[in-house]
Amino acid sequence: MAGTQRQSDPHPPAARERPTTVTITGAGGQIGYALLFRIAAGEMLGPDRPVRLKLLEIPQGVRSAEGAALELQDCAFPLLREVDVTDDPLAAFDGCSIAMLVGARPRGPGMERADLLAANAGIFGPQGAAINAAAADDIRVVAVGNPANTNALIAAASAPDVPADRFTALTRLDHNRAIGQLSEALAVLPDEISGLAIWGNHSASQFPDVSHARVRDEPVIDALAARLGDRAAADAWLDEVFIPRVAKRGAEIIEVRGSSSVASAANAAIEHVRDEQAGTAWTSAAVVSRGEYGVPEGLVSSFPVYSDGAGYRVVEGLPLDARARERIDVSVAELVAERDAVRALGVL
Ligand code: NAD
Ligand code: LMR
Repeated sequence: MAGTQRQSDPHPPAARERPTTVTITGAGGQIGYALLFRIAAGEMLGPDRPVRLKLLEIPQGVRSAEGAALELQDCAFPLLREVDVTDDPLAAFDGCSIAMLVGARPRGPGMERADLLAANAGIFGPQGAAINAAAADDIRVVAVGNPANTNALIAAASAPDVPADRFTALTRLDHNRAIGQLSEALAVLPDEISGLAIWGNHSASQFPDVSHARVRDEPVIDALAARLGDRAAADAWLDEVFIPRVAKRGAEIIEVRGSSSVASAANAAIEHVRDEQAGTAWTSAAVVSRGEYGVPEGLVSSFPVYSDGAGYRVVEGLPLDARARERIDVSVAELVAERDAVRALGVL
């Protein structure tokens, strides 16, 4: 038509794309609050993927999640298509492609993770069943709420139609903590360290393993020996300082803050999902064992993993010395005990 100017499209292709549904349980809690705004800003799925957020809470937590939803609207994030708040798991997981299972009872001062098993078993079973019934075919799940590994196991067992390898648990926080400690000890930047591995349970029994780690092109163990004097001093630092510091960092945060880690946990959960979806050469995550490294099949245990964008896979074929084998066995024994305790409750 003469005289008519064609308007430039106000919505770039990304804005027209079908949104990815991300469900966050416990969204009215502390980690939820630290997650929502970063996900809505595109920090988890990238600037090309619009999101629809579904926030699941228990009735007492709904108002808090509704308040967060109001604030999300007030941010006017271009990628955020919709926010639903509900206390109904079936509605929350309807069409969900990414489930972040955060809602759980956090550990308080003096509590051990084992105390939380019974309290949390009743949460993750019904949520797994709701995922089974309502989630999208491409569903991927990460359990953050503790005891995270066993909660993921329970959710997976309650979702028989969903491939078990879609269920993971968060040990990226432990991985990041280990890198933080090493970067300080070696006076290097965190991204100069690679090949770090967390094995086993997200608990004090975990094994943060530097035996395959490198700082730039040098083995971390050699860099530590050079900095601390010799190999014996490096081994002593690893055994007496590094491993316990990383493994007990959650308790240290609780002691200092008075409640468990929040922003660092949310950051790790975002990185876990981001790297699983986008691909990564090497990180740590708890995944369903297929018997790798002798970890009993079906347990959700942390391993060094990679992703080609289609889910985390265990990095196989790494040599393990006797000390590493012993530490992994201790943590895996704890996972077996947690699984057996949950079985005794009749949940699995
Ligand atoms: P929080 O108490 O602030 O929030 C938990 C929220 O979950 C609350 O709003 C509560 O109402 C909700 N909730 C409880 N039961 C629910 C259910 N059945 N369905 C939906 N929502 C439910 O706690 P937080 O600080 O956000 O921590 C959450 C969990 O994450 C805790 O279990 C904590 O131990 C764990 N955590 C894990 C890691 C990790 O690295 N894996 C790190 C830090 C914290
Ligand atoms: C953490 O690692 O910070 C959390 O899992 C809290 C805890 O209980 O250790």
